Amino acid sequence: MYRTHTCGELRIGNIGQEVVLSGWVQKNRDLGAMTFIDLRDRYGITQLAFNIETNKELTEKARKIGREYVIQIKGFVVERYSKNSKIPTGDVEIDVKELTILNKSEVPPFTIEDNTDGGEEILMKYRYLDLRRNFLQQALMLRYKMAIEVRNYMDKEGFIDIETPFLIKSTPEGARDYVVPSRVHQGSFYALPQSPQTFKQLLMIAGFDRYYQIVKCFRDEDLRADRQPEFTQIDCEMSFVEQEDVIKTFEGLTKHLFKVFKNIEFKGDIKKMPYSEAIEKYGSDKPDLRFGVEINELTQFAKGKDFKVFEESEYIGGICLKNISDTFTRKSIDNITEFVKKPQIGATGLVWVRYNSDGTLKSSIDKFYNTDDLKKWAGVFNAQPNDIIFIVSGQKNKSLKILGELRLELARQLKLYKENDFAPLWVVDFPLLEWDDETKRFYAMHHPFTSPKNEDIELLETNPAKVRANAYDFVVNGVELGGGSIRIHDSDLQQKMFKLLGFTEEQANEQFGFLMNAFKYGAPPHGGIAFGFDRMVAIFNNSESIKDVIAFPKNNSAKDVMIESPSNISDEQLQELGLKVNLNQ
Ligand code: AMO
Repeated sequence: MYRTHTCGELRIGNIGQEVVLSGWVQKNRDLGAMTFIDLRDRYGITQLAFNIETNKELTEKARKIGREYVIQIKGFVVERYSKNSKIPTGDVEIDVKELTILNKSEVPPFTIEDNTDGGEEILMKYRYLDLRRNFLQQALMLRYKMAIEVRNYMDKEGFIDIETPFLIKSTPEGARDYVVPSRVHQGSFYALPQSPQTFKQLLMIAGFDRYYQIVKCFRDEDLRADRQPEFTQIDCEMSFVEQEDVIKTFEGLTKHLFKVFKNIEFKGDIKKMPYSEAIEKYGSDKPDLRFGVEINELTQFAKGKDFKVFEESEYIGGICLKNISDTFTRKSIDNITEFVKKPQIGATGLVWVRYNSDGTLKSSIDKFYNTDDLKKWAGVFNAQPNDIIFIVSGQKNKSLKILGELRLELARQLKLYKENDFAPLWVVDFPLLEWDDETKRFYAMHHPFTSPKNEDIELLETNPAKVRANAYDFVVNGVELGGGSIRIHDSDLQQKMFKLLGFTEEQANEQFGFLMNAFKYGAPPHGGIAFGFDRMVAIFNNSESIKDVIAFPKNNSAKDVMIESPSNISDEQLQELGLKVNLNQ
């Protein structure tokens, strides 16, 4: 028997018992008369004690044991002389009588502790060692427990889990596909699903009116802290439902998870905000509502004073930070100006107005605006002494986006929220279509199967940009956790939609003919949603990056540096697939 107990189990009540433990050596401390080893497994750490007086041979053997050796010991549980209140087993230690080395270990390339000395690259390369760290062990346990809770909840609500295939055809979620070449049909490719979207709609047609799946999705897109090339969705579809039914079901799931894992109860309905309001007030379709700092427009107050930048702007707007002007130094202003000027943010400059504690007002454009002008602006923000206002101008959407980013950055710097604050929100009434200036055509904002609001259908012909969709996103703390929509179930309307999106009839048929066909055989009204499971666990784990809650994530350039993937394949494999690699073209 390798063990009678785990390393996290023994307490005062076990004193006197003979036990067998197995695990990894976290630390080995030789204090002369005594040698102590911290033995670790995923349940905890237990201190092992070796006494040179009572057992010289065994203690000398123990002294030679390195970090991360796998050992087994037999001994008696005794009370610790100096207790460690930081760990649950801290009242006891094992007076070791027998020691077996089960496996040696090379010196690990970084310390396997909460505050490791390893850099990102090395941690990723030795992910299996990184995963021994408590913080990652806890994160993966949380992920597992959340998955169980999700399954129980969905089961209770009458959903059934149906697997959908991975080797499929392109799904239209807006990213690039990962493709898999076919050997049997040379020159043809499968696409890995960006989501099970089309299949779940087919399942509705098949009559499985409540489907869900915790499922891998694949998207070839630029990576960020909350994006991975392969990630997991809680994917769901329902028949005979309206937007509110889907929202209610998933609101229930979210509230349940917050109760179980955070002991937080959200009373009443979770706030809903139209997309247009989110953009106007927060410069984002996923506003972080843990703090206020709303955007206000100044266009009508700031024009007409010969300040060329404002005169040439379609929009002028700003945000006001409360009670910080006195401590927000010139250097802080320079830094935040640098931040908004970064290419990825895209501002050309930043105007500031200080409402000084003595009641005077000072701005970076005093040449053009006098105190009365600034007072008017301060009024728009309801600003008080010691507040500071930052102003951006230019093209409307771009300026709002910059203000949105500025708002987030200042909140981060000024710590306007606490670690365990959670602000959930439904963003609703998304536009159905998005115009792209470069390609001069409309794109589906969510995906082409999303239905327009009934009252806006007429606008499809006259003013497509104004059509609102039956689409909704779920946002927590500025992270888009989920998104979904009520679908089009009428094949005529779906045809019209494809046309608006610039598909020719042949293209639409080639890509989605199977779905269009299926719609001819009694498609029920249906809709659904998908939550990003990795993002959800990361939020509950207070993690900045979803990498913390994925066992084997890819790095920021979509590589797995541990297994060295992606990698070349052999000439034989290429030949079998009928492929030739030609990197120069
Ligand atoms: P959507 O594209 O909004 O909708 O995706 C749903 C949710 O999946 C998560 N997500 C990601 N998580 C990690 N890495 C990524 N690269 C990534 N991309 C998306 C997000 C997102 O909100 N089929 C529709 C859903 C539907 O209409 O029912 C869909 O996939 O949390």
